[in-house]
Amino acid sequence: MSEEDRYVFIAEWYDPNAALQRRYQLIYYTKDQSVEMYDVKNHRIFLRRTKYEELRKEDLFVGNKINVFSRLLHLIDYGDQYTARKVGSKKEKTLAMIKPDAVMKMGSIIESILDSGFLITKAKMVLLSRAEAMDFYREHHSKSFFNDLIHFMTSGPIVALEVVGDDAVASWRKLLGPTNAGIARSESPESIRARFGTDGTKNAAHGSDSIASAARELEFFFPSSGGPGPKNTAKLTDCTCCIIKPHAVSEGLTGKILNDILSTGFEISAMQMFTMEKANAEEFYEIYKGVVAEYNEMVAELCCGPCVALEIRDADAPKRFREYCGPSDPEIARHLRPRTLRARFGKNKIKNAVHCTDLPEDSVLEVQYFFKILDS
Ligand code: RTP
Ligand code: MG
Repeated sequence: MSEEDRYVFIAEWYDPNAALQRRYQLIYYTKDQSVEMYDVKNHRIFLRRTKYEELRKEDLFVGNKINVFSRLLHLIDYGDQYTARKVGSKKEKTLAMIKPDAVMKMGSIIESILDSGFLITKAKMVLLSRAEAMDFYREHHSKSFFNDLIHFMTSGPIVALEVVGDDAVASWRKLLGPTNAGIARSESPESIRARFGTDGTKNAAHGSDSIASAARELEFFFPSSGGPGPKNTAKLTDCTCCIIKPHAVSEGLTGKILNDILSTGFEISAMQMFTMEKANAEEFYEIYKGVVAEYNEMVAELCCGPCVALEIRDADAPKRFREYCGPSDPEIARHLRPRTLRARFGKNKIKNAVHCTDLPEDSVLEVQYFFKILDS
């Protein structure tokens, strides 16, 4: 087999039983979408070459977490020069930020990001304090527009996104368009700022201007130390919990689902992307254990990749939002309630696009599980 056909990575997996970080060489064969794993320390085959179509080539890059047969693997390095050159050389991370004027349009903006071939690997809605906004935009502190900028950036929630792709820093700024939304409309009418911005200050979104700024700005929102960073916006009252499931996230449906929720009139008061460990998924679904036959499959789905947790607020949120999600089986939903989220975006009982809180008394607890417990 020629070199062309395989990508090699170094992957780490935390083995909870042995309480050990294990290290593997992971080989992905593009031709038949198969994977193979070697235990590096013990010099033995860990996984014989096996077809695994769930793994997508786009998800294979250093820094990403992927799921292989229910093990969450962290890709920490390229395993050979060919892979580093082919996959790594052009891959960049940047910070995309949806500004306060465009948070209601976040569904469409996220759709544009995904349709342009970028991957979203982190996401968090935050409300910046004045001090945080001044720190973030410190390079502009002597500019005439600084005060207006800080006032605008603290006027409401924003959504910070880590975006990964080929030449992501420059490509995302190109998709954004010129700083001034008016100029964007004449010079680059398809751009994000032309479509969603208002003027020279209220211009819908931000993009880091260099690889170095991207590193600093991503660290600001998503500290690598695991430190706090800006707080999430969860209110934890009059709310219900919605989770866009991993299958829907990986199918690129996040933007469409967010759009639908917002245009139906629900408020999204907090949003964050999580990649759950199996133990957390089990704990979150605890109430279904022994009650719902599909419990194990539900757990496997919830931790097979990143999911997006939402706090939904509305008068009578738990009941109304649940009705809007529809019957848990999408086939039944398509017959009985074709307008519901699951009827339109679900595939089957397990991959049914979204989880929503079942019992009103669990709503706040479920929102707390993500926004208080997992986000700490
Ligand atoms: P950003 O940093 O937000 O991605 O925007 P940018 O690089 O295109 O523009 P930059 O010069 O860095 O300015 C940062 C933000 O300040 C606001 N601004 N207002 N009224 C004005 O003249 C003016 N100029 C800039 C905008 O919100 C701009 O995005
Ligand atoms: Mg800038």
